[in-house]
Amino acid sequence: MHEHIPLSIPHVSGEEMKYMKQAIDTNWVAPLGPNVDEMERLAMEFTGAAAALATNSGTAAIHLSLAALDIGQGDTVFCQSFTFAASANPIVYQGATPVFIDSEPDTWNMSPQALQRALHDAAAKEKLPKAVIVVHLYGQSAKMAELQALTDRYGVPIIEDAAESLGATYHGKQTGTIGKAGIFSFNGNKIITTSGGGMLVSDDIAFIEKARKLSTQAKEQAPYYLHESIGFNYRMSNVSAGIGIAQFGVLPKRILTKRFIFDYYSKHLVSNTAIQMHSEFTGTYNNYWLTTLTLDVNPHDVMQAMARHNIETRLLWKPMHTQPCFAGCAFYAHEVNETSISEQLFATGLCLPSTTSLTESDLAHVVATLNTAVQAIQEKREIEV
Ligand SMILES: Cc1ncc(COP(=O)(O)O)c(C=O)c1O
Repeated sequence: MHEHIPLSIPHVSGEEMKYMKQAIDTNWVAPLGPNVDEMERLAMEFTGAAAALATNSGTAAIHLSLAALDIGQGDTVFCQSFTFAASANPIVYQGATPVFIDSEPDTWNMSPQALQRALHDAAAKEKLPKAVIVVHLYGQSAKMAELQALTDRYGVPIIEDAAESLGATYHGKQTGTIGKAGIFSFNGNKIITTSGGGMLVSDDIAFIEKARKLSTQAKEQAPYYLHESIGFNYRMSNVSAGIGIAQFGVLPKRILTKRFIFDYYSKHLVSNTAIQMHSEFTGTYNNYWLTTLTLDVNPHDVMQAMARHNIETRLLWKPMHTQPCFAGCAFYAHEVNETSISEQLFATGLCLPSTTSLTESDLAHVVATLNTAVQAIQEKREIEV
């Protein structure tokens, strides 16, 4: 049996201990310190954003962005339905109501035509959303110009959930720096990691400073503990930030490796007509955090067959408007009265192992196993029919 091939695990650079040791040797073992400052500087330098706030998760960064926009009870926030639950959960933490927007088939991200209908209806009811959360899933940028033209018309800010897309660009601009604010995740499965952490970026320095205050229990400038508003404990640890500094050093290399992995799979799966690769959309540069594809056979059967050969694959995200915890929330499909794009993707899609430390021999094993699995499922289906 071939060794286990995981979907996406951390890939250390070898420099992590240096910065973690520095933190311990200098007693900076706190949710602040020189490593945290350096992480914020690196995030600004890499993305070009004017301001950055390091947090203890990407989810915390989304939550802070909504809190800093004063979103609360009675407000609505539009959110891409095809995503991980962490994009939408902070809307509910703030007591606001999510309205879910479908994807379009090119990028798999927010559908401009669904957003247009949702904004039109909200304006007619005089209940515009306080924000729109657009996600750049799997490292593929959304169609930002089309989405922004709509949100600008109604004066609604965009929060970019770039948790999965650090280093991916839209017409040369880094994802996460196009809307009002953007967030990144440094969770263990992401392109670079701090073991657990996140980053909020924006060109609005005052906005980031407001979020910074909220992230440290909203302490006021006073000689005693004074709190005029409710805050959170969301800062990144200086020890974790040490891991992140080392990881930032290898980010350009990691992006190239993720792109190599996608190219390898594409090249070697091209003759399999039951497989459609999800390639980067014109004008965008994908970090290919995960290689994704759609299949003409049931992806659940393929996932199980791959697992029997010790290879971890994963179904695409189950859309938020189909999740029991969001039952009753409004949803706008790409096309009225048709099965949504996000549901079609969930029913047909799969993520392939994309860890940057995989060898070419691992990738060849994934390709061979996938081809065999798909063929076996197709033949079984033909026999059953
Ligand atoms: C699309 C998306 N949004 C948000 C998050 C949340 O990030 P974190 O796990 O750092 O809280 C993740 C990843 O976990 C994600 O994939």
